[in-house]
Amino acid sequence: LVLILDYGSQYTHLITRRIRQLSIYSLCLNGTASIESIRKENPTVIILSGGPHSVHAPHAPCFPSGFLDYMESEGIHVLGICYGLQLLVQNLGGRVSVGEKQEYGRMEIEVEKDCGLFGNKKVGDKQVVWMSHGDEAVNLPEGFEVVARSQQGGVAAVEDKKRRFYGLQYHPEVTHTPEGMETLRHFLFDVCGVTADWKMKDVLEQEIKAVQEKVGAEDHVICALSGGVDSTVAATLVHKAIGERLHCVFVDNGLLRYKERERVIETFERDLHLPVTCVDATEQFLGQLKGVVDPEMKRKIIGREFINIFDAFAHDLEQKLGKKPAYLVQGTLYPDVIESCPPPGTQSTHSHTIKSHHNVGGLPKNMKLKLIEPLKLLFKDEVRALGKILDVPEAFLKRHPFPGPGLAVRVLGDVTQGNALEVLRQVDEIFIQSIKDAGIYDSIWQAFAVFLPIRSVGVQGDQRTHSHVVALRAVTSQDGMTADWYNFEHKFLDEVARKICNSVRGVNRVVQDITSKPPSTIEWE
Ligand code: XMP
Repeated sequence: LVLILDYGSQYTHLITRRIRQLSIYSLCLNGTASIESIRKENPTVIILSGGPHSVHAPHAPCFPSGFLDYMESEGIHVLGICYGLQLLVQNLGGRVSVGEKQEYGRMEIEVEKDCGLFGNKKVGDKQVVWMSHGDEAVNLPEGFEVVARSQQGGVAAVEDKKRRFYGLQYHPEVTHTPEGMETLRHFLFDVCGVTADWKMKDVLEQEIKAVQEKVGAEDHVICALSGGVDSTVAATLVHKAIGERLHCVFVDNGLLRYKERERVIETFERDLHLPVTCVDATEQFLGQLKGVVDPEMKRKIIGREFINIFDAFAHDLEQKLGKKPAYLVQGTLYPDVIESCPPPGTQSTHSHTIKSHHNVGGLPKNMKLKLIEPLKLLFKDEVRALGKILDVPEAFLKRHPFPGPGLAVRVLGDVTQGNALEVLRQVDEIFIQSIKDAGIYDSIWQAFAVFLPIRSVGVQGDQRTHSHVVALRAVTSQDGMTADWYNFEHKFLDEVARKICNSVRGVNRVVQDITSKPPSTIEWE
């Protein structure tokens, strides 16, 4: 295991991902974690992340006292990246000070001494790296040697071979450091002698076994399927582990996309042999949403109705089985559970109060269900890889994300206004199908149409029309937290707009949303 200690860098999770891409298992702990919790993970290598702090700042986060002695005595290799390097230097008797020459952005570094970090690179070889630091190491601790310098003469890479301490002042984990992945590879395989033995197949077997042990031979488990990748993969895994003691429910809330219910149920039943109870709650949801225009109110009502339905589902199961289901499966992913070092002045890196997001799996506390979260150590791309092993169809795994509140956050204003939902379904289907036909679906994080609560004047077939306006939105993103609008070819947009106006009755105008996130959010409500 390669353990990352996090000091609040925005790139920390990227380090974890890069290492897993090398088929090495890696986990992330808060940078101030105790020696006991570090010892518990039994790491062979520890990487200290970057961070926004200065080592001289009051309350600057640091590893616990005794950490370096423990590393040395256990023979654990340590790599400090940026702030991590400065922590090593400062705590081993060197000196870090505010750099005369601060280094931000792309920069060239030059190898000054042969070192395992750079593979076959020779003294004098250069490479471009990504720097982002104000402080710099000015005096190195005894035993440390500079192995690379920046073009400005600053320390770029150091080693203390004997004590197994290494440091990089730049960020090897970002793509702006083109040879960064190679450096991590050399460090882990050549310097530390780690073996690449982390395979998705093993992860699957371990998780299945863990579910079997946790649930035992008697208990029943419920799972709310949203039709999304995470809940589907989680349910498929648990089904493999405990068979028919898993009970899935899929709720048609009347806010689904074109033919979504049929398509999702078909995948569950035909491809995954996963029995699902489908609850048609269209009237219940739309009845509660009638006349509601406030986006937060809509989200709250939808969350509440989902809970009512799950409650009823669990109650029905109890009647049928003669006992309460004991567990609930949730598709929680690793990014949701990592506890990072928060940036100064904030409590948590995971605060997100812009919208009341909710997981379809959110269930009332008084149901007292224990959680099963088989994906909680995985990133999204790893969940997709696991899904592939579980034979979840590829097309399903690559589906764009779809929000829990569904089309309710894409019909602006009252969801039940006229035939808004039907118009939106047709427009969305044309847009998505055109994207698939153009072969660009997989290059887009998310694409969808939005129904605007306004009418505009048009002329169709020599007649004046006063019809609906729809907006098209497509974005690229890594994780949905920030996003850029997708730049379609004009010909594509022209064809889609014409197709929509020609085939969807009641639409005479199509506009495109060209804002990134921030300042906008991805969804319109
Ligand atoms: P925003 O609109 O906040 O969306 O920029 C970021 C990502 O989250 C999705 N989204 C949701 N997902 N429940 C979900 O499961 C929700 O309530 C929800 N609201 C937004 C959105 O589609 C995008 O991928």
